[in-house]
Amino acid sequence: MGVIMSSQTHIPVLSKEVIEYLAVQPGGRYIDCTLGGGGHAAAILEHSSPGGQLLGIDADPDAIETARKRLAPYRDSVLLIDDNFVNLRDICLRYDFFPVHGILFDLGLSTFQLESKRGFSFQHDSLLDMRFSPNQKTTAGEIVNTYPEAELARIIKTYGEEIFAQKIARHIVQSRPVRTTLELAEVIERALGGRKGRIHPATRTFQALRIVVNRELDNLESALKQSVDLLGFGGRLIVISYHSLEDRIVKRFMQKESKDCICPPEVPECRCGHRASLKIVTKKIITPSPEEVEYNPRSRSARLRAAERVISPNEQYEKAFEQLNCSIGVVPSGSWRRPALVEKLRKTFTSLQINNFTDAVMGRFKM
Ligand SMILES: C[S@@+](CC[C@H](N)C(=O)[O-])C[C@H]1O[C@@H](n2cnc3c(N)ncnc32)[C@H](O)[C@@H]1O
Repeated sequence: MGVIMSSQTHIPVLSKEVIEYLAVQPGGRYIDCTLGGGGHAAAILEHSSPGGQLLGIDADPDAIETARKRLAPYRDSVLLIDDNFVNLRDICLRYDFFPVHGILFDLGLSTFQLESKRGFSFQHDSLLDMRFSPNQKTTAGEIVNTYPEAELARIIKTYGEEIFAQKIARHIVQSRPVRTTLELAEVIERALGGRKGRIHPATRTFQALRIVVNRELDNLESALKQSVDLLGFGGRLIVISYHSLEDRIVKRFMQKESKDCICPPEVPECRCGHRASLKIVTKKIITPSPEEVEYNPRSRSARLRAAERVISPNEQYEKAFEQLNCSIGVVPSGSWRRPALVEKLRKTFTSLQINNFTDAVMGRFKM
């Protein structure tokens, strides 16, 4: 959960850091992939004014409506889309909203969702639903009441990192039908012999079910890949995650995308041709200050990672040749030997701060 909300308050997590790491600037274009109550979005709009624009996405239509009210003062600068961020690229193409200066993911649940009667929390009794969007098919209730024991155990172990997954799955299957959040929490508590420590024994199982219902990890992986192509050069990608499974995906993604070669170490020469598209900005993860955690205890597990879109050598060359093609028409292969053209190439490359002029030209025009 990324925000603390009551009927009046609505405090986004790591808000100052989001603005800082997104490097929000007046007139900038930003995408908030997890709009929620619109807390981060409002801060981004405030700091990107005048002229800033924001595309806000949420799979939960209730969140879109809440954010619409919150962002009413900026209505001319926002576009709110009720959709899953797994469709990020299509959404941006449809609305011609790219390249952008920054993309934000504040993963997980909003407090509105936690406090709703939609099955996300065992603090309230409600049916086991857990879908972000009513358009999704599978509910937590279907998983709990129809999946085979072995599959349930696998889900709880993998997505809840629960060491007692087998035991919990067995008790769930024996207690079917399990209809509500409180019933499920009781079954799990009984399976584990009551409450021990600070964390409720059902916490990990609830996390696992929610992840599977909403395909959270697959969608995150896919959306991260899509976001690279939507960022302008120098644009920032910010992700706030709330558990280690999410954070691991973000960390690995940023590490991979910041490398020029991803061949296994035993391969003597690079064969992958992979080129860095990101530079990691947060060498160490950013976590909330003790003051923020005290003020907003739900922020305690938040971890922020940021990366900046960099131009790879291939993209630099493409950009240079694009500029050349604009100024002198398509450059015919082999014609690079003409002195006037070489001079133009050299100037364009210098203006783009590309040092290795010969490599670029040779790479483009195979000799
Ligand atoms: C932690 S809340 C965001 C809170 C928001 N940053 C704010 O300041 O109010 C996460 C939001 O992301 C949404 N969400 C999670 N996964 C999503 C997905 N795959 N596609 C679209 N929205 C998603 C949830 O519905 C929820 O509203």
